[in-house]
Amino acid sequence: MAELSMQNGEVEVEVIHSWSTPRTLSTSLMYSFAQRDDMEVLDEPLYANFLRVTGFDRPYREELLCKMEADGNKAVKEVIFGPGRKKYRFCKHISKQWVPGLPTDLIKKGKHFILIRSPLDILPSFEKIVPPSFQEIGLANLISIYNELSELGRPPPIIDAAELQENPEATLRGLCEDLDIPFQALMLKWEAGPKPIDGIWAPWWYKSVHKSTGFEKGRKYSQPFPFVHYDLLEQCLPLYNLLCRGVRKPSCLLKSPLPRPNLPVPANEKLLAWVGDELLPRDGAKVSVFDSVVQGGDSVWEGLRVYSGKIFKLDEHLDRLFDSAKALAFTNVPTREEVKEAIFRTLIRNGMFDNSHIRLSLTRGKKVTSGMSPEFNLYGCTLIVLAEWKPPVYDNTSGITLVTATTRRNSPNNLDSKIHHNNLLNNILAKIEGNSANAADAIMLDKDGYVSETNATNIFLVKKGRVITPHADYCLPGITRATVMDLVVKEKLELEERRISLSEFHTADEVWTTGTMGELSPVVKIDGRDVGDGKVGPVTRRLQNAYKTLTQDVGVPIPTYHVT
Ligand SMILES: Cc1ncc(COP(=O)(O)O)c(C=O)c1O
Repeated sequence: MAELSMQNGEVEVEVIHSWSTPRTLSTSLMYSFAQRDDMEVLDEPLYANFLRVTGFDRPYREELLCKMEADGNKAVKEVIFGPGRKKYRFCKHISKQWVPGLPTDLIKKGKHFILIRSPLDILPSFEKIVPPSFQEIGLANLISIYNELSELGRPPPIIDAAELQENPEATLRGLCEDLDIPFQALMLKWEAGPKPIDGIWAPWWYKSVHKSTGFEKGRKYSQPFPFVHYDLLEQCLPLYNLLCRGVRKPSCLLKSPLPRPNLPVPANEKLLAWVGDELLPRDGAKVSVFDSVVQGGDSVWEGLRVYSGKIFKLDEHLDRLFDSAKALAFTNVPTREEVKEAIFRTLIRNGMFDNSHIRLSLTRGKKVTSGMSPEFNLYGCTLIVLAEWKPPVYDNTSGITLVTATTRRNSPNNLDSKIHHNNLLNNILAKIEGNSANAADAIMLDKDGYVSETNATNIFLVKKGRVITPHADYCLPGITRATVMDLVVKEKLELEERRISLSEFHTADEVWTTGTMGELSPVVKIDGRDVGDGKVGPVTRRLQNAYKTLTQDVGVPIPTYHVT
């Protein structure tokens, strides 16, 4: 058979399948490939089968069913994979035409790629010809095609029509490279007007592409979106965004997108976060642009740690969370039981029973319009449970360095530090000073120049055997601080809470910081001066050990956790 074909001048061709939704410049791309000297093209060879199977109506339905192969099996075996006269055959497919019953060879054989375009552009263009629907647009099919190919170990390259318009040569070169065929400059230009390769539906659909002679830049600013299709847009956009992630060079507001960053703990790349009342994958876990935390940092938060199947000091953290929310006059706050349930469900779904940290935020919630007033908050609070794998963040073995920031800690005159709010700019400014000095954190002074805490932790010193820590006037009344103060008493050490000046820290025998995230962190240098002899001191070690024992022994058990 192959020999017979060869005698007719026909050869076995390599098929390149282009999969896209309608109105994505797929016909322009077909014209572009048709320019090549090694390529023949087919315009939607599965169209007739699609109309036959789905019963969809079109003005040209009967003509198309007569003139094109309407048996999907034959269309695949004899038309798409039939012999030809060139090395390659480009098949333009519209994803909705991938209907049940087609032979699996369609996906298994040949090279495939996906062409996408924002539904913001597709829907207005499609509605000019046929009323759009979810099935007509076919994004769900496009995702299925992507998944089928990925499961076969051949995830297809994806290109975006916007890139093709913006930078045709680079996009075509990239696509050719991905398809492992040489780029040909011929692909950049074609003649205007109808072509013999056009499907019989061309008079209805190809009016504007017939005017083109290449990929032309799109309009800088598009027309207003037709809001009758708002619901459809809401269904289509997330699917488009999923495919966008696979685009070689994603369209981006930044001219040169930043490289994909490395995560401090790679295991956190795939996690589920609780937002509102649902668990969402990391990249989809978002709050509304109307949320109070976006509008004004109007939110309260807690950091909690998980040790050996238990949440350490859960009730103490929830007490502070609810107190902070009350101080800020939040309304429609979830109950303690609801918050606990959300925390448990998040940890269990993520399989996080140890070595994890929870960033728990409760925002004043979504507003009905942008603005400052809590009177716009008619939806109730938004709860966020972000759990991550997180080993202690400081060097608790050799100790850390601190510097003193020029930024003063908020005083109760302006924003009371007893409210654990997300408006963290005061601390972030100090943290920037710490970063600039290569220090782990920065000490913040109160309005009178006494030490309050660091930008992220509470602080203690030891002088001649006495443990001293600042009053919680300007600092956050930390839960680790309170725990360590209890341990100091249990260890029969002397404890004092008072105003402490910076020079007392410079001349202390030992210093450490406390916080849920970092636990007890020895400080060995402050503002260039060694603390004591510059080594971790004995009182610090004793309290670190006592704290470690406590975290293993106490805590609220996570349901379903069993020691193995
Ligand atoms: C400014 C500040 N100080 C201290 C702490 C430590 O508090 P806790 O021990 O409750 O984690 C935190 C933690 O959130 C903080 O943000």
